Amino acid sequence: MLKNKQNKKPTTLLCLVSTLVGFAFTIHLIMLYRRNYTVDNLEVSPELLPTHHPVVCELERVEEENIRMPPPRKRSPRAIKRKPKRPNTIVEEFLDENSQIRHLFFPDMKSSFGPSKDGGNDTMHQFFPGKIWLDTEGNPIQAHGGGILYDEMSKSYYWYGEYKDGVTYRSHKKGAARVDIIGVGCYSSKDLWTWKNEGVVLAAEETDETHDLHKSNVLERPKVIYNSATDKYVMWMHIDDANYTKASVGVAISDNPTGPFDYLYSKSPHGFDSRDMTIFKDDDNTAYLIYSSEENRVMHIGPLTEDYLNVKPVMKRIMVGQHREAPVVFKHQNVYYMITSGCTGWAPNEALAHAAESIMGPWETLGNPCVGGNKVFRSTTFFAQGTCVVALPGVHGGFIFMADRWNVADLRDSRYVWLPLIVGGPVDRPIEASFGFPMWSRVSVYWHRQWRLPSGGGKEIE
Ligand code: GAL
Repeated sequence: MLKNKQNKKPTTLLCLVSTLVGFAFTIHLIMLYRRNYTVDNLEVSPELLPTHHPVVCELERVEEENIRMPPPRKRSPRAIKRKPKRPNTIVEEFLDENSQIRHLFFPDMKSSFGPSKDGGNDTMHQFFPGKIWLDTEGNPIQAHGGGILYDEMSKSYYWYGEYKDGVTYRSHKKGAARVDIIGVGCYSSKDLWTWKNEGVVLAAEETDETHDLHKSNVLERPKVIYNSATDKYVMWMHIDDANYTKASVGVAISDNPTGPFDYLYSKSPHGFDSRDMTIFKDDDNTAYLIYSSEENRVMHIGPLTEDYLNVKPVMKRIMVGQHREAPVVFKHQNVYYMITSGCTGWAPNEALAHAAESIMGPWETLGNPCVGGNKVFRSTTFFAQGTCVVALPGVHGGFIFMADRWNVADLRDSRYVWLPLIVGGPVDRPIEASFGFPMWSRVSVYWHRQWRLPSGGGKEIE
């Protein structure tokens, strides 16, 4: 009896503790569930397809690629003796403009796609990453290193990018391949597939050699956001000289999304060098500049002034020592995500996804987001480099990852690689966990040879 009585106390205590743990566990599960199914504290509208919907699963289909290497080129026995040839890698074949398999990375005009093509319903509204993409007039789209603005007023998308329809050359032997500045191209669309050329909205300066936009300089990665307080469209871009030593950001402004934009000035943000960059406008209308700095060793991030025309004197150093560039930023369920590339010039390399609870950091690196293709495809971001992420209409947690497949031999012929990006999709390898729960959702970019928007394509997105 006594024995039993004595035993009762710890049992009651144990019951109490396990009830509490159970309660905390249930609350945790509910929070996790809510985090997955609410957007910025608003319940998701029923038209939005959740990530496990069959239509979305289609976007997450893993497509394999098997590129067969060409047979080795014939060489004279003397040449072989001089330098025994080791087999080429696929990346070397990609970079070699005379490669026999070049057409696999840069298919020719015959396979181009776009609204002007008489492709019937088969190709209408389908994205073909890497193929030549034509505008409504049948010309290849010129909007490299670009970004997309959705304009509430005109209910249209605007795609801004480097208009590179000029000759590729090197200003000196060791210089990077370049095209003289022509300006920023702008295209408009209602469905993200049919793009109308709105012309060059910020043009190069032809004569004044001291001007930032003089054609001999560099203008890259233009991005536009709208400021509702001033009713202005504001463009930020990377401004440099031909040797990439000026390392500055430039700012331009317009009353209309289709320009013309007035160029205001360039500067070294926070007194630092700035090369690859992007801007991000948050839900509370605060905008941020994110740029590779300290010779690309460190990413910097800081808020813009209320008019978006300058940076505030606040800056955080993130991804310190990681040597990342080509930053693209997006947000989902109050978590900020970034995708960056490594620093190998126009040559492709492995992308990394990062996440943060607060945009000013700390940022954590999640890993390579690329899924499908094959190992080489995934380690080269599908032979491309990120430039922007735009929300995928109709899909909760769905985005489009926009990347550039640079054609170093002829930069105007660089291709667009647009692929579905899903936050919270299936996990292909263990992700960092805390108390058994994943700390971050998986960010995945799925390789597809062709795909279409889940909204059916063709429907105007209003
Ligand atoms: C890349 C960069 C491009 C361009 C290029 C020049 O790394 O992302 O925007 O600057 O280098 O080599």
